[in-house]
Amino acid sequence: MPTVLETQQHFDKSAAVGVDSSVDKWPAIAPHFEAIPRGARIIECGAGTGLYTLPLLKAGYRVVANDISLLALKRLKVTMEAAGLADGLSLAPGDYVSALADVADPIQAATFIKVLHHFPDRDHIRAALHATLDRLPAGGRIVMFEPNGLAPHWFVRYRLLDTREKWLNERNIRLIRQSLFEDLCDSRNDCRLSLQYRFLIPGTFVSRIPGLSAADRLLTSLPGLRRFSANLICIIDKASA
Ligand SMILES: C[S@@+](CC[C@H](N)C(=O)[O-])C[C@H]1O[C@@H](n2cnc3c(N)ncnc32)[C@H](O)[C@@H]1O
Repeated sequence: MPTVLETQQHFDKSAAVGVDSSVDKWPAIAPHFEAIPRGARIIECGAGTGLYTLPLLKAGYRVVANDISLLALKRLKVTMEAAGLADGLSLAPGDYVSALADVADPIQAATFIKVLHHFPDRDHIRAALHATLDRLPAGGRIVMFEPNGLAPHWFVRYRLLDTREKWLNERNIRLIRQSLFEDLCDSRNDCRLSLQYRFLIPGTFVSRIPGLSAADRLLTSLPGLRRFSANLICIIDKASA
């Protein structure tokens, strides 16, 4: 398993290169923020260079951007300043759980976008989610968007077609399963989980061709097919008192 330090070095390297090849999947993620009031403070774990910080700030949220890569956070800050959005931004550098503990401001919501599978193991993922839930007020929400660990094409893409370094950094995709989040919520009595699978049709096409998003939503709702979806969206709502 990659350690937190190895992961930090890997992402420092990509931030230095500065090319972000990720497909922007914001249209699929955005609806899950709608229940969070504008102006709320959201901690974004693994914000990277800010692909999703930008739309969150544009939507009127205050964002605490957390990342273990200082270089990525530096780039993120420059981008938000250039967009005139830095007022709503604060930075929380470091490994998520300790960085969260250092944030003094109240937090109403949290988001983990393509980051939990970079944690060293299941225990780190559980610890991050428990710490977040302990911190959120009743009515708070966690929005997670991760690769689906059941989908075989991640293994093909990273294990068979990519470099060994990439595989080492992506191999914990296998940990991201519906059961991980179900067990976590079952172990507490203060949260409610909802799940959605997305992107049976590759995101590159869905983001470019109108109409494909609706087709994808239909396909990913079919029980026999959804395990092959590229992504899993998990929402955890902290129960109101
Ligand atoms: C694949 S990138 C995703 C960046 C961004 N969320 C996006 O989707 O464009 C994962 C990010 O998570 C960060 N990360 C990995 N482990 C972390 C941890 N334990 N605490 C905070 N950030 C972490 C990495 O440094 C990296 O910037």
